[in-house]
Amino acid sequence: MKLYIDSANLAELEALTDSPFVDGITINPTLVAHGMGKEHVADVEYFDYLQKIRKYSPGELFIQLIYDDRETVQYEIAKIRELIRWPVVIKVPANQDGYYTVSKLTKEGIAVAVTAVYSPGQACLGLAAGAKYIIPYYSRIERQKEGEGLKVVKEIMNITGPERLLVASIKTEEDFCLLLSNGVKNFTVPYSLYRAMGKNEMTDVAVQHFSESFRVDWKRKK
Ligand code: G3P
Repeated sequence: MKLYIDSANLAELEALTDSPFVDGITINPTLVAHGMGKEHVADVEYFDYLQKIRKYSPGELFIQLIYDDRETVQYEIAKIRELIRWPVVIKVPANQDGYYTVSKLTKEGIAVAVTAVYSPGQACLGLAAGAKYIIPYYSRIERQKEGEGLKVVKEIMNITGPERLLVASIKTEEDFCLLLSNGVKNFTVPYSLYRAMGKNEMTDVAVQHFSESFRVDWKRKK
């Protein structure tokens, strides 16, 4: 299983230093806007912020392109290559411009993930274009198709195989466990869900009880 955190919030990322088993970070323009507290920035500020994200990101960093046109993609990729420590996976939305970009970047040897995937057809075109990962939005599909989120994700996984599927837009522990028990291996979850999943108040009560039951005066050398 691979676990990624879907966040561009520097305080959250910094707090992940106590989570060495987290495989990496996924970001998108909305998360970056929230993290920076702005919706419009100069590219210098943006790349500066990306460097800060990279500083606290373990493993792979999935960066979604913010380009407006194909020429800008080249500039954006060149800056990411120059300024950001790799391994980086470039995220590209599942649309016609996106498939073009996937195929171009893949030929340059760059790992690409096709994101905002809602249907098996988009997954097929993403793979045909050369994507390493396909990223369906579980909760959004669930809302769009009224309760068919798992069915659609499984159809997509039948096409991609579990290794190339990374499921995003997971809102609850129940969603996560349902997907895991149905064969999904790679997840990206919000930081708040990641923290909530690892905690139960009864565990805290049990730990308190253990520490009240028994103590050892350790003679450790300093
Ligand atoms: O990275 C994709 C993810 O942020 C979409 O999730 O929670 O906005 O549906 P959500």
